[in-house]
Amino acid sequence: METVLSGIRSTGNLHLGNYFGAVQNFLKMQQEYNCYFFVADYHSLTTHPKPDNLHNNVKQVFAEYLAAGIDPELATLYIQSDVPEIPELYLLLNMNSYIGELERTTTFKDKVRKQPENVNAGLLTYPVLMAADILIHRAHKVPVGKDQEQNLEMTRKFAKRFNHMYGVEYFHMPDPFNFGKELVKVPGLDGTGKMGKSDGNGIYLAEEPASIRKKVMSAVTDSGPVKPNQEMTEPVKNLFYLLELMSEKSTLDHFRNAYNTCTIRYGDLKKQLAEDIIKFTDPLRTRINEIYNDEVYLSKVVKMGEEKARASASQTLKDVRKIMGFKSF
Ligand code: TRP
Repeated sequence: METVLSGIRSTGNLHLGNYFGAVQNFLKMQQEYNCYFFVADYHSLTTHPKPDNLHNNVKQVFAEYLAAGIDPELATLYIQSDVPEIPELYLLLNMNSYIGELERTTTFKDKVRKQPENVNAGLLTYPVLMAADILIHRAHKVPVGKDQEQNLEMTRKFAKRFNHMYGVEYFHMPDPFNFGKELVKVPGLDGTGKMGKSDGNGIYLAEEPASIRKKVMSAVTDSGPVKPNQEMTEPVKNLFYLLELMSEKSTLDHFRNAYNTCTIRYGDLKKQLAEDIIKFTDPLRTRINEIYNDEVYLSKVVKMGEEKARASASQTLKDVRKIMGFKSF
């Protein structure tokens, strides 16, 4: 069975865009592949989080993925820092990655621009740590967004270089997992583009109803249609798309008709949309909070993930050390 691996940012709380996009696909993948999903807490150290925040973020994201339906019996769900084989492989791979190529990655150049006061070595070697994450389980497929494609390309480069240097065919090249047409893109609330992390544009699974209402009510619209069946502007199209995703068909039809006859009041549409989103997220939020507060369950799941992940990781590291010439006395 092929292995799929995905790293989850520990600071990236799930919003509806992630939920209908990546997570729904993870739920299918865990049935069909040998899946490794992990919370990338080492990667988050590049921004120097406060110790309490580091732990709480990991716990929150872990609880969110469980609540969203990742099944720890089917997939291996673990925390990166629970697997010491990853930083060891990272050290070994670092000897084989060059400053020039690391400096040229777009994610690094972005960070240099955005946080010139904190250009640490961890940022530079971020792609090497990512390669260690992937190669430690010799993953076949990695679902990545556009922004991570280059990092996956680097992984292939490091894997190839290792094979070449030691005259082995140990690592095979991980491919991007292509969601193809199945990837649902959820629009944001700010009128353009898809739902993301930027302020006010996204609705989080764990968000309180009052906050959801506030965000939806302030979503961007336009001044309203002036002639029947008028073409919709982008912000309005986006709201209708959200209705399609979250509401009953009769609700959608009602507002479509109101739009086409120029009787629509966007305030009414937003009110309804907010309630429908809350209806959808309410059970998820409850479940997230239940899991977050269930220390016994969480520690059981975390331990199980750690064991499964280390079983695979330690085998790879053992092979790699042997290939490189480490021997015990
Ligand atoms: N860098 C990825 C992101 O920002 C997270 C990540 C870390 C990852 N290690 C990975 C993704 C390994 C895929 C494979 O989203």
